[in-house]
Amino acid sequence: MQIDILTLFPKLCEGALAESMMKRAQEKGLATLRVHNIRDWATGKHLTADDAPYGGGQGMVMKCEPIFAAVEALRTPESKVLLMTPAGRPFQQSLAASYAAERHLILLCGHYEGIDQRVIDHLVDDEISIGDYVLTNGAIAAVVVTDAIVRLIPGVLGDESSAAEDSFSDGLLEYPQFTRPVEFRGWRVPDVLLSGNHGEIAKWRRQKALEKTRHFRPDLLG
Ligand code: ADE
Repeated sequence: MQIDILTLFPKLCEGALAESMMKRAQEKGLATLRVHNIRDWATGKHLTADDAPYGGGQGMVMKCEPIFAAVEALRTPESKVLLMTPAGRPFQQSLAASYAAERHLILLCGHYEGIDQRVIDHLVDDEISIGDYVLTNGAIAAVVVTDAIVRLIPGVLGDESSAAEDSFSDGLLEYPQFTRPVEFRGWRVPDVLLSGNHGEIAKWRRQKALEKTRHFRPDLLG
């Protein structure tokens, strides 16, 4: 799969895509991740990508021309164009899973007070929000969305079951984990995890996942 991020701040994304799992996914040939500066498609003496809003008001609005030029240069008939915006559809694990099956995503990062509505009406397939808070721009949101999608591409995670046991994949938050030493500063690992009894361990984990979900995310339990 290929993901192209279009932003005015490519450096905000580049470091993240070159580390850890996103780096490995690219090295394994399972993902091609690219970052582009929208300004590279701006024209005129000052290469402006934004302008004052019609009707007046605070701030600047991202202009149509460079964004249309950039998307039209990158897209193929298989591409989906997603706008990163706090005014979009809430991003969830289920959405990450469905986008992981796409061939090509173009993540368009909003900035300033907004983006010309004609971009949304005539270029964008979906609008995505990573949560109910406002970031300065969509570049960090695009990295979040890219990470969540890329790790679900088959073969990216070493052990396929590690995605299956993620928080949310079974509707619950993940249960607590422990590793060596068995005792640290007087705090012991729960005996059941040392018992070798897989049935009891599974029961304990489900119980803990339920408790954690009830505490932090009762909305998930319906
Ligand atoms: N841009 C600014 N805030 C955002 C958010 N919460 N989600 C996606 N893009 C954004």
